[in-house]
Amino acid sequence: MTDVKKIAVLGGDGIGPEVVGEAIKVMKKTEELFGLKFEFEHGLFGGIAIDEKGTPLPQETLDICQRADAVLLGAVGGPKWDNNSKELRPETGLLGIRKALGLFSNIRPATVFDCLMDASTLKPEVLEGTDLIVVRELTGGIYFGEKFRRDGEHGQEAVDTCVYNVSEVERIVRQAFEIAQKRSKRLASVDKANVLETSRLWREVVNRIAPEYPDVELEHVLVDNCAMQLLRRPSSFDVIVTENMFGDILSDEAAMLTGSIGMLSSASLGEGSFGLYEPVHGSAPDIAGQGISNPIATILSVALMYRLTFGYEEAAQAIENAVKSVLDAGHRTGDIAVDKSKALGTEAMGERIVAALSK
Ligand code: IPM
Ligand code: MG
Repeated sequence: MTDVKKIAVLGGDGIGPEVVGEAIKVMKKTEELFGLKFEFEHGLFGGIAIDEKGTPLPQETLDICQRADAVLLGAVGGPKWDNNSKELRPETGLLGIRKALGLFSNIRPATVFDCLMDASTLKPEVLEGTDLIVVRELTGGIYFGEKFRRDGEHGQEAVDTCVYNVSEVERIVRQAFEIAQKRSKRLASVDKANVLETSRLWREVVNRIAPEYPDVELEHVLVDNCAMQLLRRPSSFDVIVTENMFGDILSDEAAMLTGSIGMLSSASLGEGSFGLYEPVHGSAPDIAGQGISNPIATILSVALMYRLTFGYEEAAQAIENAVKSVLDAGHRTGDIAVDKSKALGTEAMGERIVAALSK
């Protein structure tokens, strides 16, 4: 009997539901081609959940995720909720779901597709061969440390604390070493050890663990220097591991190397095989509902899900090959099109990818 995998689907806000819709079509086609079987359960999340349930992460949604094998997420947020108090912001739901599901590791690949090189703002000779992964710590650091306001000598002060303990650093660093072992065996650990105590602890842990992975070449890079090197020599990076906020910033920078944030997938993982998969881009409220968003990042997130949660490597590669062949044939959504007048809509792009899927 086919093993049925449960997928929690959280479309979210803006273009989220439409890009997720195309990703599900791709999943359904792979069911036919590869004999896979999925059961989809939809949940409210983000702004829409605030509107309908009064909280960005309703308990029912968390329950759906907890009984699933993997979560497919669209995007959250929009101007409608931007001025809400912290508890009623979509982003709070995102941080909450990461923490509640124990997803401490965020994997963001940035691969430059040769045929899209002209979509990047950088020169092709700098980009050539760029294929890197940012492994970002996701449930610690300044995002989750104590935050408060107080009255200081010069009026009101705000405090955000950055805390990391040894085991939090260890588990993410080990995972990054393991990912590097399966790739080009180069790991850049990014910190600010010349200033921050959390970074000094981070570096100590990395140096202690490194001898267990003798085949991986390790470099320590200060975060400011890394931001610079990413633009100067992006192809020299393989796996970058870093703490939560540095990873937030560097993964956006790395995304732009590829020309379009509409192409980038991500996985958030915990200890086991369970994972949450989402495009790196946001909810793009400016183009929501127009049917012109790029579904590729979400479709590539499904490939990551197949590979990392289910071990469906053949189907994962089939999705990646289908995307590549559609791009090679010159099909583009507006965000990556040179000639915008020929751009495909979200559904048309999804259909082309489904049609290109083969075993
Ligand atoms: C991301 C986003 C989130 C983050 C925001 C929306 C809370 O920027 O996933 O990178 O900072 O982690
Ligand atoms: Mg971010």
